[in-house]
Amino acid sequence: MKVAILPGDGIGPEIIDEAVKVLKALNLPLEMATAPVGGAAYAASGHPLPDATLALAREADAVLFGAVGDWKYDTLPRHLRPEQAILGLRKHLGLFANLRPAICYPQLTHASSLKPELVAGLDILIVRELTGDIYFGQPRGRRTAPDGAFAGAEEAFDTMRYSRPEIERIARVAFEAARRRHGGRGGKVTSVDKANVLETFQFWKDVVTEVHRDYPDVELEHMYVDNAAMQLVKAPKKFDVIVTGNMFGDILSDEAAMLTGSIGMLPSASLNERGQGLYEPSHGSAPDIAGQGIANPLATILSAAMMLRYSLQRPDAAARIEAAVQRVLADGLRTPDIHSDGTRRVGTAEMGDAVVRALSA
Ligand code: IPM
Ligand code: MN
Repeated sequence: MKVAILPGDGIGPEIIDEAVKVLKALNLPLEMATAPVGGAAYAASGHPLPDATLALAREADAVLFGAVGDWKYDTLPRHLRPEQAILGLRKHLGLFANLRPAICYPQLTHASSLKPELVAGLDILIVRELTGDIYFGQPRGRRTAPDGAFAGAEEAFDTMRYSRPEIERIARVAFEAARRRHGGRGGKVTSVDKANVLETFQFWKDVVTEVHRDYPDVELEHMYVDNAAMQLVKAPKKFDVIVTGNMFGDILSDEAAMLTGSIGMLPSASLNERGQGLYEPSHGSAPDIAGQGIANPLATILSAAMMLRYSLQRPDAAARIEAAVQRVLADGLRTPDIHSDGTRRVGTAEMGDAVVRALSA
């Protein structure tokens, strides 16, 4: 089993080190190879996603990704920005299905900014379409406006679009995920759209409704994105699986992540049609705390667990990692992002070491 390790920028390298430590401790037949990506790759070779890095990712069964982005690169032209690395990997590898679980760990109920009773036991899954929508739709660009009230003025535009096959395949991922979460049958999917305004999302709603005919045991509800944003903070536990497009999914997944108290805890998987996947923490590169050894490595360690489950067919090893993470939390170890009175504050490496110890406890 080949794993491409792409640490990236900011806290990326620190948190990836801890996940690699945990993977090595499992003694699995994993071949791990590391390559630069994002700003780090730009600094070294002039491109955020060098050909050699893309080739390594293509050949691997799975990619473990840290994070990309740093203010230093904010003034670069768009195609050289660190973010282009992750967008390029998604597009080139066809990683259309992004699974972002938002789980409120019992030990962290009080870390949420919402009342504990609203989030205790929260376990929802956001299924975000990842290779379409306004993120990738053509045409896009800047020009002199040809018409309208401001004809002749400079303007910029992006295109929101979805094709039937793109919507069908992500809808299937969501319905299957709902079933899997409920022992093979049932569950609920909330499809989030803006069908009241956008043609793209009226089409989305129609296609999801058609696909639903193959999943009669799963409940389907439709919700406008503005209402979904509100319901997520009002009564998040009413959701089970949320499926939505790339742009709405980007926004709602950050909102959902924060309900759980710490975005530093949440892993994610991005899968293609062949089961190949890229695994990354849901949080970003946090350049403000990079190099201080205080970043929470658990989201990345849990991403490695998702990788073992979804791409490497080792659910047993995934479960061992997840149990070890539960144990260190139960033992009261906390990085500063989730630290509170009565718990023991630890750094990035100490947290990784504790998970390794808990694997064999
Ligand atoms: C994410 C990030 C990316 C996105 C950025 C870094 C391009 O915010 O993974 O959610 O917008 O998809
Ligand atoms: Mn995002």
